[in-house]
Amino acid sequence: MRAPQLEPAAGLPSRVTIYEVGARDGLQNEKTVVPTATKVEFIHRLVRAGLPVVETTSFVPPSWIPQLADASEVLAGLGPDGLGPGRPVLVPNEKGLDRALEAGVGAIAIFGSATETFARRNLNRSVAESVEMFTPVVARARGAGLWVRAYVSMCFGDPWEGDVPVDQVVDVALRLMDLGCDQLSLGDTIGVATTGQVHRLLEALDDKGIGPDRIGVHFHDTYGQALANTMAALADGVAVVDASTGGLGGCPYAKSATGNLATEDLVWALHGAGVETGVDLEALVATSVWMAQQLGRPSPSRVVTALADADA
Ligand code: HMG
Ligand code: MG
Repeated sequence: MRAPQLEPAAGLPSRVTIYEVGARDGLQNEKTVVPTATKVEFIHRLVRAGLPVVETTSFVPPSWIPQLADASEVLAGLGPDGLGPGRPVLVPNEKGLDRALEAGVGAIAIFGSATETFARRNLNRSVAESVEMFTPVVARARGAGLWVRAYVSMCFGDPWEGDVPVDQVVDVALRLMDLGCDQLSLGDTIGVATTGQVHRLLEALDDKGIGPDRIGVHFHDTYGQALANTMAALADGVAVVDASTGGLGGCPYAKSATGNLATEDLVWALHGAGVETGVDLEALVATSVWMAQQLGRPSPSRVVTALADADA
């Protein structure tokens, strides 16, 4: 399979940790519910392809996300591949934490919103009430020795509120990180960000003590900006990037949220620029081709399309 021609680019980290969200962000947004055995096979393949962090599922009410109602069964099916600090699950509340602890997870992610409208629609609460809901979750998770990530959604624009002020994002980020989270993920839920916004937000967070070493970036690709925004964040010292194999993804509670940055597109860009990821691109493309067969439609990833066509 073709590989990018190596030409190291200045100003990038030597290694990037890819935080794979396809099994969660991707499959939560599928119209049909993917069978548990297919999810388990998908995650095994992602792990075998060398992805260091694979978000496996969400412990949310089945009424909210029916696509991930089988969270406990997925983890049971994964065995050791689903456990440890590199296999986070989404947890919104104490009930979700109880279920996650029972499944034996080693890492969780809470998920807040920079805007009131999305907090209401996605969490059925105001921003302040959602922080209250997360407080005992993070305290108990830390007490149990779990690694904890905090997502903030709608960092760069909101479908109902429009532009989102940087100060508003920083305020929510600080409240979530003050709970004791290890990492902050900046969500461009609807994929509208551009590079200047990325620099500005990272700078504003750094000014308040949340440096790029504690930040991951999470770009959806609705407007085709995800890779450009990611490279902008890497130039500012971020070294954790969320991506979704095959470009699956979206949020059923956010209008116009499409797939995440495709992991294959990210790996192509990084390996070409001499940035290590530990990921086997050929294995990932084969996984996306297989997953596309399961879902009955082609992957939106440009790299998957190009490499799979070249191979045919
Ligand atoms: P609520 O309806 O206010 O919850 O939802 P509740 O506490 O009133 O409970 C309602 C019922 O659900 C009760 O059952 C609870 O026991 C049960 P009943 O008494 O009616 O039989 N319940 C649960 N069951 C299983 N697991 C649980 C759980 N909790 C309660 N954890 C809630 C509030 C926060 C739970 C809900 O709004 C929710 O789960 N929202 C999450 C929606 C979601 O998963 N969205 C997608 C993920 S976020 C995203 O994709 C963005 C991201 O990718 C970053 C980005 O792109 O920006 C992360
Ligand atoms: Mg997302």
